[in-house]
Amino acid sequence: MSFLELTRMRRSVRDYRPDPVEAEKLNYILECGRYAPSACNFQPWVFVVVKDEEVRWRLGKGYPKPWFVKAPLVLAVCIDHSRAWVKRNGKSYAAVDAAVAMDHMTLAAAEQGIGTCWIGAFNEQSVREALELPENIEPIVLTPLGYAADEPTEKTRKPQEDVVRWEHF
Ligand SMILES: Cc1cc2nc3c(=O)[nH]c(=O)nc-3n(C[C@H](O)[C@H](O)[C@H](O)COP(=O)(O)O)c2cc1C
Repeated sequence: MSFLELTRMRRSVRDYRPDPVEAEKLNYILECGRYAPSACNFQPWVFVVVKDEEVRWRLGKGYPKPWFVKAPLVLAVCIDHSRAWVKRNGKSYAAVDAAVAMDHMTLAAAEQGIGTCWIGAFNEQSVREALELPENIEPIVLTPLGYAADEPTEKTRKPQEDVVRWEHF
């Protein structure tokens, strides 16, 4: 499969089978996240893997959709603000770093036949409590990990001429 085919094949899975994700596949996915690039190579991320049903249920309070807790695993990509690269204008790049790592992992998961869904619309306080996050650790994005129980739908993307400019805006 080419990289283009992989990017077209990855999709948001919003229904999961309860079947467990093999340990080798999970490790492969996490390794692909660990090798992601980051600003100044500071790697300010922490990947929190949740298998425990009770913790997943508590996490579900922060994103109360039935399909979210159906998956056998949830992955929370968090950043450690004390390890972030901060630009001179004061902007932290830690959330960008987290997104890059997350993208590596969602694509790696798709390659392994494992479904994911980026989730940004969670309640931060509930997730903080469920994962017992210290103050300096911020959850950026969550994803369930598991085998899809739904079917792919057609991908809608803007045409290239709408999103690419040449030489100037
Ligand atoms: C940063 C980010 C946050 C997202 N948050 C959510 C979310 O909270 N809930 C959800 O169901 N999908 C969420 N998505 C998934 C998008 O809706 C989805 O990627 C988009 O509609 C394209 O569909 P596809 O992933 O199937 O290609 C998010 C995606 C990104 C990149």
